[in-house]
Amino acid sequence: MSSIYEDSRDVFLDTVNTKDYIQLDRVSLLYRSLKESIKKPLKMILLYGKPGTGKSMFLSKLHESLSSSQQVYLYHTPILDESEFFKTIAQDLYGMEYSGELNFTQFMKVVQNRDLGDSIIPLIMLDEAQLYSAALMEKIRLLSDTRKVKFVIALHKTEKEDLIAKEHFQTRIWESIKLENASRLELKIYIQKKLLKANCFDTANMFTKKSINLIHKLTDGNYRDTNKLIYTLFDIYSHYIENTPHLINSNEISNKYIEMSAIHTGLINA
Ligand SMILES: Nc1ncnc2c1ncn2[C@@H]1O[C@H](COP(=O)(O)OP(=O)(O)OP(=O)(O)O)[C@@H](O)[C@H]1O
Ligand SMILES: [Mg+2]
Repeated sequence: MSSIYEDSRDVFLDTVNTKDYIQLDRVSLLYRSLKESIKKPLKMILLYGKPGTGKSMFLSKLHESLSSSQQVYLYHTPILDESEFFKTIAQDLYGMEYSGELNFTQFMKVVQNRDLGDSIIPLIMLDEAQLYSAALMEKIRLLSDTRKVKFVIALHKTEKEDLIAKEHFQTRIWESIKLENASRLELKIYIQKKLLKANCFDTANMFTKKSINLIHKLTDGNYRDTNKLIYTLFDIYSHYIENTPHLINSNEISNKYIEMSAIHTGLINA
């Protein structure tokens, strides 16, 4: 039988799965505003934020919730070959199969000639969009100009990508949404809700204000770094409970073990 610490540890595996989605006030607000934006006659929406702030999770959740009411596609990994990219969209949006190449001019014609009638403009969500070339981004922009397809583009923000955003979307992106690291309170909610969802009530109660503050200091509230840290933390607990249980206080998380985990995961340089 696995221990409570092992169960708690596995809660923090770094995966993007909508069934693990946690409602956080700030994210829910952005989520609602993005859903509103999608209804507006916008062509492109930019979703950005540092790595590990929850962009992929956000897109997956959005995809899941929209898919019952409209045509929506989520490309997790960029399709870097242009012809493959257009072919994939043609297949998804229009069910068209191309055996040879499909270039931009040809595909543009296909898109322009579509009559959407009264139906909602289909939506394509591109995750990890910082990997697309500037040239392909420009074509995506032109596609969105036809108003026959909308794009939500998620990218992590660095100086360089900021530039991409400026050059290519300045006038086109009518809405941009930024995801941030968690505040202390949000981080506490995140950790506890995650554990409670997995019925790990005892460990959820072990996080005191002091331990949350330390975790926040170490991870800056980044969700991915927090996952890594707490995964390691409970891994340490599960080893101790087996081998040296007297070293464990099961009432509250020890800051010493948080620090050990931070060294282990590289958040502190030992
Ligand atoms: N709202 C949320 N509910 C539950 N888990 C979340 C939430 N937001 C983020 N996470 C967790 O944080 C981890 C990192 O989030 P995600 O992969 O979505 O970040 P990202 O912004 O896409 O990062 P990158 O730019 O590196 O792709 C996820 O694996 C997930 O476990
Ligand atoms: Mg991502």
